[in-house]
Amino acid sequence: MKKIIIANWKMKLDYKSSLALAKQVLASVKKSQKIKSEVVICPDYLSITPLAKIFHSSPVKLGAQDSAMTDRGAFTGEVSAADLSALGVKYVIVGHSERREHLHENSSIINAKIKTSLTYNLTPIVCVGEKLMEKKSGEARKYLSKELNRALRGVKIKSAADLIIAYEPIWAISSSSSARAMSAMEAEEIQKFLKGRAARILHKNLRVIYGGSVNSKNAGEFLQQKNIDGLLVGAASINNTEFMSICSQ
Ligand code: 13P
Repeated sequence: MKKIIIANWKMKLDYKSSLALAKQVLASVKKSQKIKSEVVICPDYLSITPLAKIFHSSPVKLGAQDSAMTDRGAFTGEVSAADLSALGVKYVIVGHSERREHLHENSSIINAKIKTSLTYNLTPIVCVGEKLMEKKSGEARKYLSKELNRALRGVKIKSAADLIIAYEPIWAISSSSSARAMSAMEAEEIQKFLKGRAARILHKNLRVIYGGSVNSKNAGEFLQQKNIDGLLVGAASINNTEFMSICSQ
């Protein structure tokens, strides 16, 4: 399987800037001879409909930053997986640490979102990651294992391509006060561990990607690792030159 580079634009861009950046990304991807990875853009909900038109039948794939845990119904403020899928969205980020922290998403919500996304043929990108406290106490693997078990409880997939695990150590995310990128070697060890855990739960050799302060200077090192199947990029993905440089490695 190809490596995959996923841009998580979070809520960093206004509507106009999202559309402008999407057009730049598409033009650059079409022009580039160097990009071998699959490129995915996850914009906010407001710009997802025009971006579906911009990326329609193009090499750039569309992802959502979240989707509802249940089917259609009386759920104020939610957006259904069915509608995202019908729009042409292929991927959905589930359980991002920012949603776990600020919106109090717990593992049963995350588990439900994964199952609902799969029902509508969206590929969930399931985020797990330890806090600095767990890292310092040497409990990171135990913590990650628990997060993964809870998120994937009762989940069934047909093929390895149906679900992606994103390892994002919370202390490495650029917006955290202690942010620093994890070393590629250190990430590789944990990715290998997560691959093994996920294989035990879902009986498939899933893709496991890395996220946390990835930029054009360190992306190459991460992508060279055997167990790093791609990158989930935040801050560095909202600048086209920087993002294209990451995608070209
Ligand atoms: P940064 O690349 O800004 O550290 O963000 C990582 C992230 O949270 C992507 O989902």
